[in-house]
Amino acid sequence: MVLSPPPSSTPENTEAPAKQAEAVPGTPQVHRPRRLRRTESLRRMVRETVLTVDDLIYPMFVMEGVGQRQEVPSMPGCFRYSLDMLLDELQVITGLGIGAIALFPLIPDEQKDNAGTESYNPQGLIPQTVRAVKQAFPDLLVITDIALDPYSSMGHDGIVEDGRILNDETVAVLVKQALTHAAAGADMVAPSDMMDGRIGAIRQALDAEGWINVGILAYSAKYASAYYGPFRDALESAPKFGDKKTYQMDPANAAEALKEVDLDIAEGADIVMVKPALAYLDVIRRIKQYTNLPIAAYNVSGEYAMVKAAAAQGWIDEQALVLETLTSIKRAGADVILTYFAKDVARVLGR
Ligand code: PBG
Repeated sequence: MVLSPPPSSTPENTEAPAKQAEAVPGTPQVHRPRRLRRTESLRRMVRETVLTVDDLIYPMFVMEGVGQRQEVPSMPGCFRYSLDMLLDELQVITGLGIGAIALFPLIPDEQKDNAGTESYNPQGLIPQTVRAVKQAFPDLLVITDIALDPYSSMGHDGIVEDGRILNDETVAVLVKQALTHAAAGADMVAPSDMMDGRIGAIRQALDAEGWINVGILAYSAKYASAYYGPFRDALESAPKFGDKKTYQMDPANAAEALKEVDLDIAEGADIVMVKPALAYLDVIRRIKQYTNLPIAAYNVSGEYAMVKAAAAQGWIDEQALVLETLTSIKRAGADVILTYFAKDVARVLGR
């Protein structure tokens, strides 16, 4: 039967269109999907999902002080930056073509209280950071997180009373936080708290104050997930009692994600988010089929930490695995991906 051997210069992942001398009995004659996988040019031509730097939002941690750059132990390669160091780092990040960041604050214990009052201090860490970043990098899209947990002495996303998380009282604080961030220059606010009705309340308040162009990236289907552990290390924001199951979603539910998305769209969300990403690709897909809004997915801290841990052992090919993972999230239906790998990926993909 077959074939001339490929020229020795042919890379391993390419096969020449060599002629087969005679048919081999019992093999397929017409449909041969492998024809479209033969060379990299062919594979590129028929590739259905292409990940680009434009898809990525880089989450970053900020802290008080000067000259601070503290690596998060459970997130190797991710740091908490003081403002001066953050601005240096943003030079690199914008240079790589990354167009958007999401900011999260490390708040000192003495500034935390049950009502999260520091969350709407106009001179607080996030407003100061946003003002400085927008001044230095006007084109960089700056997204701020709206939730009380980094500011809460209880480590919860809402005000606590007798072990309960108060909904409407919390929403009133979230509104103040969103207005403070808008006034500081945030392009979008991203409520991650999962209180009922917060998107509508924030949209109305932003509009009433004239911030009609400040967008809302809604954490719509945010699950009560074990994948957030390393993030809570980074911000020292773990709950002081209990868990977040009375406000974040049950991982067993997908139809309920559509209900949350419905509400957030009706209340004025510009982009809806699913979080975490990898264990919830089916949810991303269902929402994609359900709405025309852009969909974001958050490739969260635990997903990052697992990859880094396995890579440190030499058990996986980190770069290939990260590209495969993020492409899968996009293939599932995400238009936008928040990922701690943004910088690494931007280096590989180029602009
Ligand atoms: C806070 C918030 C969390 C994350 C983003 N915003 C943690 C939580 O809900 O406990 C998690 C992000 C990550 O794990 O990377 N509301």
